[in-house]
Amino acid sequence: MDLKVENGCIKEDKGLGWGKSLPVQSVQEIVRNGYQSVPERYIQEIKDRPSSISSESLQASLQIPIIDFSLLAKGDEHETRKLDLACKEWGFFQIRNHGVQVKILQKMKAAMAAFFELPLMEKKKFAMGANDLEGYGQAYVVSEEQKLDWCDLVALKTLPLEQRNLNFWPLNLPGFKEAVEEYSIEVQKVAEEINANLSILMGMERDGLKRYQGELKQLMRMNYYPPCSSPDLVVGVSPHSDGGSLTVLLQDDDIIGLQIKHKGEWIPVKPIPNALVVNIGDAIEIMSNGVYKSIEHRAITNEKKARISAAAFAYVDDELEIGPLDSMVDDPHRPPMYKKIKYIDYIRQVLARKMDGKALTDLVKIQT
Ligand code: OGA
Ligand code: NI
Repeated sequence: MDLKVENGCIKEDKGLGWGKSLPVQSVQEIVRNGYQSVPERYIQEIKDRPSSISSESLQASLQIPIIDFSLLAKGDEHETRKLDLACKEWGFFQIRNHGVQVKILQKMKAAMAAFFELPLMEKKKFAMGANDLEGYGQAYVVSEEQKLDWCDLVALKTLPLEQRNLNFWPLNLPGFKEAVEEYSIEVQKVAEEINANLSILMGMERDGLKRYQGELKQLMRMNYYPPCSSPDLVVGVSPHSDGGSLTVLLQDDDIIGLQIKHKGEWIPVKPIPNALVVNIGDAIEIMSNGVYKSIEHRAITNEKKARISAAAFAYVDDELEIGPLDSMVDDPHRPPMYKKIKYIDYIRQVLARKMDGKALTDLVKIQT
């Protein structure tokens, strides 16, 4: 085990972690220092640039399912059906009445804003280590040549409480720890209730997924997308699907950024004040034998305003072998579509590449 001294604090280098990301400049700092034109490394190839939203895409945006979580939690059949369809056809939905108090959402947003407002030197105290993706920095930078996202982030392991590495937490920032802790616990309850509903929909008891997946862990990725003078040239986060089981996203109430791929088109997910966005991750796609979809998504930037979001990834233990659940396999009508793979091996492959759309679940897909 290597010990590394960085900015005066000792960081443990835990050897082979999930993966690594090459250090690159803070985008927020580029913006703070002023720039004449967008630096070359951030200018996307023409095919990858966000085009303006068509009226069809805006129309489709209105169809993204909105689920009343309080009904779901009561076992309302109509709402459960809606969840089923949302996961099959969209892989994304918004939830209202999720039970997380507005005060907790606001505190979380304020804590993130306060963190990114800190001077660079202060934030660098929490910089990612060489072999891991936890901490402050930019994710998924795997080569010196690749195009870069217009985004800074801080990723923290939030749950279970004992897996937190508090040396990455800005403990001297008033209210930060409390806000993130409180929000992460609340949002995990939401993820667990959705899993219970998915378990029933997948032909198991309410605790079916819990038994299979074990206690879910949580990684919180807090994204800061600075304003960009040419939002048509850059992307905030490149197209990818999420590698975990479920993601719950807290996004800005006013600024549109998130887009999802639906029937070949990029569709914006318009914020609903105080709602949460939920999406199916690769692990559930694999476990559901492809019935529930982990959809490609990206974020675009805004010309005038910074946008902040928090993605809470609920994921399984590294050592768990994931594969299609028995209840979702019915030979020969619905044979297994994915190979079994140890989760850590899956996630290392995910993180070793630049985010590249849906290429990853394809790696474990059984070719027919
Ligand atoms: C992510 C993500 C989207 C957003 O962090 O995985 O997809 O709108 N974020 O910030
Ligand atoms: Ni994502």
